[in-house]
Amino acid sequence: MSQPLTATRPTTAGISLSPLRQPPPLCTFLFIIVLIVATFYTLHHPDATPPLLFSRNTHNSLTLRRLFLSSASNATISSYLRALTRHPHLAGTKPSLDTLSYVTNHFQSLGLDTRLAEYEALLSYPAHISLAARFSNNTTVEFDLNDVTADDDVIRPYHAYSPSGSAQGSVVFVNHGEERDYRALELIGVSVRGCVVLARKGESLGRGGMVKIAESKGALGMLIYAENDGGGLGGIERGTVMRGIGDPVSPGWPGVVGGEKLSLEDGEVTKRFPKIPSLPLSLRNAEIILASLGGARAPVEWRNSGRVGSGQRVGPEQTVVNMTLQGELKMKKVHNVVATIRGSEEPDRYVILGNHRDAWTYGAVDPNSGTSALLDIGRRFSVLLKSGWRPRRTILLCSWDAEEFGMIGSTEWVEENVLNLGASAVAYLNVDCAVQGSGFFAGSTPQLDGLLLDALKLVQDPDDVALTVEDTFKSQNNIIERLSRVDSDFSGFLHHAGIPSIDMYYGADYPVYHTAFDSYDWMIRNADPLFHRHVAMAGVWGLLGIILADEPVIPFNYISYAEQLHAHRDALSKLLVGKASVDPLSMAIKEFSLVAKEAKDEAKKLKEQAYNKNDAAAAARRRGLNDRMMLAERGFLDSEGIKGKEWFKHLVYGPAAEPESKLGFFPGIADAIAVNSSEGMIQHEIWRVARAIQKASRALKGGFT
Ligand SMILES: *[C@@H]1O[C@H](CO)[C@@H](O)[C@H](O)[C@H]1NC(C)=O
Ligand SMILES: *[C@@H]1O[C@H](CO)[C@@H](O)[C@H](O)[C@H]1NC(C)=O
Ligand SMILES: *[C@@H]1O[C@H](CO)[C@@H](O)[C@H](O)[C@H]1NC(C)=O
Ligand SMILES: *[C@@H]1O[C@H](CO)[C@@H](O)[C@H](O)[C@H]1NC(C)=O
Repeated sequence: MSQPLTATRPTTAGISLSPLRQPPPLCTFLFIIVLIVATFYTLHHPDATPPLLFSRNTHNSLTLRRLFLSSASNATISSYLRALTRHPHLAGTKPSLDTLSYVTNHFQSLGLDTRLAEYEALLSYPAHISLAARFSNNTTVEFDLNDVTADDDVIRPYHAYSPSGSAQGSVVFVNHGEERDYRALELIGVSVRGCVVLARKGESLGRGGMVKIAESKGALGMLIYAENDGGGLGGIERGTVMRGIGDPVSPGWPGVVGGEKLSLEDGEVTKRFPKIPSLPLSLRNAEIILASLGGARAPVEWRNSGRVGSGQRVGPEQTVVNMTLQGELKMKKVHNVVATIRGSEEPDRYVILGNHRDAWTYGAVDPNSGTSALLDIGRRFSVLLKSGWRPRRTILLCSWDAEEFGMIGSTEWVEENVLNLGASAVAYLNVDCAVQGSGFFAGSTPQLDGLLLDALKLVQDPDDVALTVEDTFKSQNNIIERLSRVDSDFSGFLHHAGIPSIDMYYGADYPVYHTAFDSYDWMIRNADPLFHRHVAMAGVWGLLGIILADEPVIPFNYISYAEQLHAHRDALSKLLVGKASVDPLSMAIKEFSLVAKEAKDEAKKLKEQAYNKNDAAAAARRRGLNDRMMLAERGFLDSEGIKGKEWFKHLVYGPAAEPESKLGFFPGIADAIAVNSSEGMIQHEIWRVARAIQKASRALKGGFT
């Protein structure tokens, strides 16, 4: 993950599911009985049509799903994770090539058609870093900026793409570094101009956004610490501060080997990097500086929430720091691995499962918990293939590189394949940090909500054998997030290519995020001692892949999309308080709802028809509806994209100015509101979203006006 997952689960952007429901024990009991009977039945009547729990249409889908679930193995997952996390494997370094061969060999040994998609990209590494402080008692301290001492293989904590240079100045504490924090400082007469600002990582603003705001306020440099420092281990959070995603010297096009690369002086490149240096700091060091600050007393809200040092002052008097940073920008090869399981009936339609492989350090959580789940899905799919299964549609298992620098591997791949993705990708299923702790979390585009919950019903909860993942999900989180975040590899697929997407993880806000302590040992001590959560995640992920690849009628439900758009419109309307009219949206959503209803009826009819491979007319009708459902999401794309970040084309989900925008959807409208645009500008953005929804309706309906 390139940015932390926010601790706040969006409430306006997520769809709230039915109220808390503890499954009545009888239900659970019956469910288990049915499963046992079904298993027994299949074992003893291998050729008979098994009783169907899930689908009425595919003759052997239940057998298949059961075979998939019963082939789970916590032991293989744990062995993959151990192998992948033996050494730190930052993208562009030698040990990262070992993980590349490990993943490639794994897929090849399973007999899967396995390819490399290689690019050249500009990556950033630290050469020299130092930080010294002089306090009011005239003592000077040279800080230790490492979170480990013994292991020289771990890259020292730094911010990738931070410019080289020095910054000397008085320190000012700026809380989370959000716009409103600087406003609070202004009110007590504190300016950060010419100072070095110290901030603690907050919930809504990524580190790149924090640096960007500090820069705009005239700060000379920035120090960022995380309060969650590895659970007292003293971990320091590495991370990228690049703006936008993908290779910075091939913006908008694939950075293929031998292709066009912009020079480092090109404005398109320089705008991707901050102008002021920044460094990550340990909590311990941050506390020393905080305690030493003089100057103004901290704003009351900060004092009340305990976010200031013992002196309760924010500077800028008393403490002066000198931060120096020498970075190296290097062109490096990045390698994606793509394993293909060719579809038998619709080989030109694709269901894509993806996870990144590169890690800041050992990467046991981020990202190789996901990688080991992906490798186990590969192993289990090969078991299914040996039993005679061929998916109807083609499945791709993808291992991305250089995600930590800004989703580079997946972004270059999406850019290279954007037309084919648009024409033939059914869905993208992302898992980055598969397991960080307890509790299932997921985000998705709304047409996938129902399928996601159905898949959760089929997988046993890793922490309570009497329950399914769905049971605990509903009683704990009960919110499917919306994917406006730009923090993992689904971004290019959804925000640029308009592919319906899902992103899933167990646990949230784990303390060793991007630190030297994200290791196999930490995983088995803290997050998943017996690898049961890994098994559950692989189960959900693989089943989603199988169902999306196999169901004759793709299980998309656009009525949930329409309902979600409706809720988004209501939330927007409240925020606008009459400043602009949401009528164009209302009209477009009304039409979208009607078309969604028609599509649902059509799907129902097609599903009721007995499935017969040789009935070409029925196959064509199904294919027609499937294509329209696949393309409807592309309707939300706009070729001009979001103003100021034009690469992001999706007008319903995408990055908005954080955290000033309260929406979490309609990023163009959110931005217009956040920067206090004129009513006319806001209205124009509303019209653009309305037109995008109309385009989606037309795609779903098919034909011409
Ligand atoms: C620190 O040094 C300055 C200038 O050299 C001096 O004026 C001041 O009294 C010293 N402060 C302390 C606490 O020693
Ligand atoms: C000087 O001040 C710093 C910051 O407040 C403190 O950590 C340090 O212990 C002090 N040193 C002496 C010698 O008093
Ligand atoms: C800041 O630190 C750097 C590196 O240690 C050093 O070269 C430079 O002279 C220092 N600047 C000041 C003003 O102390
Ligand atoms: C797998 O799960 C079983 C049953 O809980 C447990 O005994 C075993 O130790 C686990 N294996 C690993 C590698 O965690």
